[in-house]
Amino acid sequence: MTGTPQAAAPGPLSTPLTSLVGVRHPLVQTGMGWVAGPRLVTATAEAGALGILASATMTLPQLREAVREVKSRTGAPFGVNLRADASDAAERVRLLVEERVRVASFALAPSRELIGRLKDAGIVVIPSVGAVRHAEKVASWGADAVLVQGAEGGGHTGQVATSVLLPQVVDAVGIPVIGAGGFYDGRGLAAALCYGAAGVGMGTRFLLTRESTVPDAVKARYLAAEVTDVTVTTKVDGLPHRMLRSEMVAALESSGRTAALLRALRHAAAFKRQAGMSWAAMLRDGRALRHGRNLGLGPALLAANTPMLLRAAMVEGRTDAGVMAAGQVAGLIRDLPSVAELVEATVGQAAALLAGPTTRTPAPRTGGTDP
Ligand SMILES: Cc1cc2nc3c(=O)[nH]c(=O)nc-3n(C[C@H](O)[C@H](O)[C@H](O)COP(=O)(O)O)c2cc1C
Repeated sequence: MTGTPQAAAPGPLSTPLTSLVGVRHPLVQTGMGWVAGPRLVTATAEAGALGILASATMTLPQLREAVREVKSRTGAPFGVNLRADASDAAERVRLLVEERVRVASFALAPSRELIGRLKDAGIVVIPSVGAVRHAEKVASWGADAVLVQGAEGGGHTGQVATSVLLPQVVDAVGIPVIGAGGFYDGRGLAAALCYGAAGVGMGTRFLLTRESTVPDAVKARYLAAEVTDVTVTTKVDGLPHRMLRSEMVAALESSGRTAALLRALRHAAAFKRQAGMSWAAMLRDGRALRHGRNLGLGPALLAANTPMLLRAAMVEGRTDAGVMAAGQVAGLIRDLPSVAELVEATVGQAAALLAGPTTRTPAPRTGGTDP
């Protein structure tokens, strides 16, 4: 295989997203820290959907290695998710340009300058946003499409449900809109297309596939969860964060200020070692997460809790000592299909619903195995 993207044969659901990116299906496997690595992204790309590598938890050399690994395994297009406010965002953008990555996805809104640099290099820019005004801003700065995540979604999240946010953003911007937050099957994809979206992004659903490298014990916690086992806490890094209820969430919620600060300091030191960053860069990134508000050392340090606690679960399999970011759909997902089975079942069901009579179609089995 070469790294040169090949033109995909059109699938049953062609949309402005499939033509913009050159993928077969209007389905995105979103960037998820420690989860969306080369294995998951390659499987998604090979299945004809858009896979996005999560880079916020990778160093620059690790990101280059991951990009090259995907390119060596598939000729299909894929993307990289970046933190727009990271202190080395400009270097990461340069890496994407050098490696000719097809899509740049951003957690939060990137600057007009970063968008311009990527577009000049022919890279498709798709920022993630959680509010209509951010979608309008990035659209006016030249973003090619926007991914809107409603409150149901996993990880950092907002307050407006996808069913309200998605049509609001579709009506507000003239670029393709990808809906995310709460999607896990073909009914959701069909509904999003009816709202006027150009596709859907799924995080939790792709985390629960056979190619996802998340340890089995952690996958089992997600599969056993009910909808009410998914909660939102601000205690990890000060921002609303959707995840499974767990021992660690209970501990974070009941910690006093001193214990919280000591924990944050420990995680900050570990993240600094892991990422090879200076204390100054770490604090700068921590403050950036809070939109530059200088809230003091404690809140800035808290930012390191997210990557380290996520890593403890997603990489080390420590369900008691880590956090398990999850969308509300974790309460509905009960199987572990392969990525190809998932993509085929989702697109097939959506296409059938959009083409046929509106009688209720039972959700097809994705062919996955229970753990
Ligand atoms: C484990 C996990 C890690 C995540 N990490 C990131 C991330 O690094 N960057 C990002 O932009 N979004 C991240 N998200 C959000 C997802 O990309 C996506 O928008 C969200 O999962 C969609 O909602 P869903 O889970 O209902 O499909 C994460 C979500 C999960 C579940």
